[in-house]
This record gives sequence, structure tokens and C-alpha cells, in this order.
Amino acid sequence: MNDITVSAPSKFVILGEHAVVYGKPAIALAIDRRFTVRVRRSNEFRINNEASDIRTSPHMRYIIGQHNMIPVSVNLDSKVPAGSGLGSSAALSVAFSAALRALNGFRLNPESIAKEAYEAEYYAQGRGSPMDTSVSTHGHGIALNVPNSKENHLWNISKNDKTWDISKIEVPKMTFVIGYTGIRAPTGPLVEKVRKYKDRNKFASDIVDEIGNITLEGMDKIRKNDVEGLGKIMTYDHKLLSILGVSCNELNKLVDASLPYSYGAKLTGSGGGGCMVALTDKPKIVSDVIASRGGIPYIVSTGVDGVKIEYN
Ligand code: MEV
Repeated sequence: MNDITVSAPSKFVILGEHAVVYGKPAIALAIDRRFTVRVRRSNEFRINNEASDIRTSPHMRYIIGQHNMIPVSVNLDSKVPAGSGLGSSAALSVAFSAALRALNGFRLNPESIAKEAYEAEYYAQGRGSPMDTSVSTHGHGIALNVPNSKENHLWNISKNDKTWDISKIEVPKMTFVIGYTGIRAPTGPLVEKVRKYKDRNKFASDIVDEIGNITLEGMDKIRKNDVEGLGKIMTYDHKLLSILGVSCNELNKLVDASLPYSYGAKLTGSGGGGCMVALTDKPKIVSDVIASRGGIPYIVSTGVDGVKIEYN
């Protein structure tokens, strides 16, 4: 085999961000915006048809290092903005890990890919949960830290003294509009902000517990394809996250503008910028109002496959 094309989906967090840091449940959904990676053996490292040392990308350097690989030529095509919180680096890591395995003639084992891609993310960022890499590998939806989910158990991922229990959720086709504020807001300081608030204040700790409770309710709504119920929980979650101090004017503006045409809307990911998401059956209108308030809209669908070989 001398030419392999693999794609992996990006994602958004529908419920549970920030609370997941304290062991509460969180749910991420894969979306139909994919990262595509084409690899072939070469006599030098190349990216997008130009000689380049792909080991300058920490994600690819880590993964190459796991595969005792001769030089490869890599073509990358991403349908999501980098640094927006939609998991583009996780999708790259997942697709690249799968592509190298296929190039070496191995069958794709999702658990091994999810674990290797998570290690690559950790190597590149020094932190983070395995939520993005697991959902990009499995597709559809995944939940972390859900109690009693034996029949839906996918895999455990451990790092240092922490173990995450990852379970799968079948996700119906739903339409969402993601609104990117264009603001890159690093996750670390926002997680720290919530940690300090929570440590000082019982009220903040109750909010984190409440996010955990509504995330479990939301999982039930997803399974039942109850878009109205799910939308209400999303909007409530946005209020709780705002009280924790992780929203911002730009996110609130896009959420408020979307709500009259949506079942619900909220920030997604760490907040402070990045993206919001609205669940709607009027995607064109929501997309227009997001654009008119200065956001960059993406109409996306859920219920999509995880990592897969496109051509070989
Ligand atoms: C960021 O996408 C989600 C957070 O909960 C951080 C994390 O889980 O690592 C804010």
C-alpha cells in the first residue's frame, strides 16, 4: 500500500464542560466537519507537497515516534478552524495515527488509536482530558464519568493518577449551528478561574454539581431525540457556566441572537471566546443572525462516523 487517506471528525462539547474537571459527567458529539490526512511513503518528510519536517508539529512528532517510521509525505485538509475549541488537533492526531497504522498494514483498532492520539495531545499540550480524541475516534457521541454505564462502556484511559471511563452514546442526526467568536481563549486560565471560585465558594461548588446533574438529564434527551428537552438544558447550562464566569460578551451576544430561532444555545468548550452552539431546525436563519453579530457560523450535523479510511 503506498497511499492512504483517512478522515476523523471534529466535535463540540454539548454538556458538562468545566464540571468534568471535577469528575462530573460530560458529553461530546462528533460533527460532519472532518480532518482528512493522506499519507504515503517518501524519501523525505513533506507536508502539503512541500519539503518540511513534520516532526516540528508536536502531535505528529509524537505519533511518528511510536511507529518507527521512514519518511512520509502528508497532505492535510481540515474543515474546522484551529484553536476554536472544536477539536481540530485531536482529529489530526486520530487521523494521522490511523493513517500510519493502515500504511504499515495494520487493522484499525479504535481503542489503540484513541489512546495514542490522547498521548499525542498530552505530549503537545501537557494537559487535558481524553474527551476530544475519544469522540473523534469513535464518532457519534461519547460521555465521560457516567455512572453505571456498563453496557455502553468503550474504554478507560489513564494518565498519571487519573482514569477516565469513556462510554458511547448513539446520537440521532440533529442540526446545530456553531458560532465562532474568532477569539482564541486558552483553556488553562479558564479552568483555573473556575477552580479558584469553586475552592472559595460553596455556591460555585453547587453550580458544578448542578451541571453534573443536568448533563445526565441531557444524555437521556439525546438518546430519545428530544430536541426541545435537550435545548432547554443547553440554555440552562449556559446560564450556569456564565455564573461560573467563563462566558464573555461576544459569546452571550451570539447565544442571545440565536435563542429566538433555536431550541437552546450555549457556549461550548472552555469559554472566554471560542465557540457557542445552537440546536435548531432553522439553521439558515441562525447562521445569518450569528454572522450579523460578528460571529463565524458553521451549520453542522451529528450522528457521524468516527475515524475511517476514505481511500487506499
Ligand atoms: C474544554 O473543551 C473542556 C474543559 O472542561 C476542560 C477539560 O475538560 O479539559 C473546560
